[in-house]
Amino acid sequence: MNSIEIEDSLGLTICMKQPVAIERGLGSHVWDDKGAQYLDFTAGWGVTSLGHSHPVLVAAIQEQAGKLMQNPNSGFTYSPVRARLLTLLQQVLPEGLTRVFFANSGAEANDAAVKLARKVTGRPQVIAVAGSFHGRTLSTLSLSGGSDNAAKYLPLVPGNQFVPFGDIEALAAALNDTVAAVIVEPVQGEGGVRVPPPGYLQALAQLCRANGTLLIVDEVQTGFCRTGSFFAVDAQNVQPDILTMGKGIAGGFPFAAFAMTDAVAAGVSKGDHGGTYCGNPLGCAAAFAVVSHLLEQNVAGRVTEMGKLAMARLQMLAQKYPEFVVEVRGRGLLIGIQMHNDAQVSELTQRCLALGLMVTPTRNAVLRIIPNLLITEAELLSGLALLTTALDAMRASNAEPVQARCA
Ligand SMILES: Cc1ncc(COP(=O)(O)O)c(C=O)c1O
Repeated sequence: MNSIEIEDSLGLTICMKQPVAIERGLGSHVWDDKGAQYLDFTAGWGVTSLGHSHPVLVAAIQEQAGKLMQNPNSGFTYSPVRARLLTLLQQVLPEGLTRVFFANSGAEANDAAVKLARKVTGRPQVIAVAGSFHGRTLSTLSLSGGSDNAAKYLPLVPGNQFVPFGDIEALAAALNDTVAAVIVEPVQGEGGVRVPPPGYLQALAQLCRANGTLLIVDEVQTGFCRTGSFFAVDAQNVQPDILTMGKGIAGGFPFAAFAMTDAVAAGVSKGDHGGTYCGNPLGCAAAFAVVSHLLEQNVAGRVTEMGKLAMARLQMLAQKYPEFVVEVRGRGLLIGIQMHNDAQVSELTQRCLALGLMVTPTRNAVLRIIPNLLITEAELLSGLALLTTALDAMRASNAEPVQARCA
C-alpha cells in the first residue's frame, strides 16, 4: 500500500498509509468512499458541534435555502432570520456584549476585532500571547504567537507584541498607553490545549481596564459549549470588551461573529466594517438552529459530564503509558494528550486512523480530542478503547525509535 505525506492545516506533517476520502457523516461517525466507518473525535476541527448532518441543522439549512440565501441590498434590507439569531445570541452572550457583527470565519472575526479596537482606542499596538492561534489571514497570522510559518510571509503586520503564556506580570509590564487591545484564547487550542493558571483571565481583564486597553477574547474554538459553559469566560467571571466566535456556532456552515460592548460600539460608525456575505440568511438560519439546540438540550451540562468521564479515563492512560503520555489536560470536550514528541503524535494519529478513529494532532506534541458535543457515552468510551489499543500497538512495536516521516 502506498504511503503519502500530508501537511495538515497547521503545517504538521502526518504520514498516511492510505489517503482517506470522506463521503458522508452522521452524528459521531463518517464513512469513506469505500464504505469504511470512522468514529470522529475531531468534529472537523471543532466545528460540527451537533455531530455530522444533525437533522435539526439539515432541516434549517434546507428550509432557508428554499426561501432566501442572500438578502437583496444586504445591509440595507431587514432580515428576519438575522434578527431572530441576534435576539437568541443576546440570551447566551456574556453580560454587556450587546452589539454583534457577523463574519465568515474565525480569522475574519479576529481581524475585524483588532481593526476596530485600533479605531475605537486610537492606539496602534496589540498584545497577543506566545503560543496563541488566531487565524491565517496576514493580520491574524501576525498575532499568532505559535506560528512557526510566519517567517514565510514577511513583512508581518506591524504593531504587535507577544507576552509569555500565563504570565500576568509580563503583561503588566508590556501595557502602556499605546496598547489598543490584548487578544487571548481562554484555553489555547491549536497551541496544544494549554489552560492558563487560575485567575489569569480575570487579572488580565483588570489590567486591561485600568490601562484603557480593550480585552478581545477569542472564543472561536472554546465557544458554544465546547468547554462545558456556553463560553469559556462564563466559568471565569470575565467580561471581555470584544468576544469573537466561529467554528461550532453554525455546526459546519461557514459562519462567525464578534460581539462588543456598547462602549466599544460607540466608537464604531456605519461603514467601518462589513462584507458581502456577513450575516447571510443561510448562515443565520444554521446558527439559530445550532444555538437553539445547544440551549434546549442543556448541552453545556452534558459536555461537562462527558469531559469529566473522558478526562478520568485519559488520566489512567497517562499512568499506564508514561513512555508516550506526559500529561492530559483540557476543559469539557477540548482535551489535549501531551506526548513526548511530535513523532509519537504522528504515529498515534496514524494508528488510530487504521483502527477507525479520527483524532487531531496539534502543535507542541499534543494529540487533541475534540469530538462533537452530543457524543454519547458509549461512543466516547469506544473511541477511548481504540486509543488504548493504538497505544498498546505502539508499545509493542516501539523497540525501534519512531520516525516522524514515512520511509
Ligand atoms: C482560537 C482560534 N481562533 C481563530 C481561528 C481561525 O478560525 P478560522 O479557521 O475559521 O479562520 C481558530 C482556528 O482554529 C482558532 O482555534
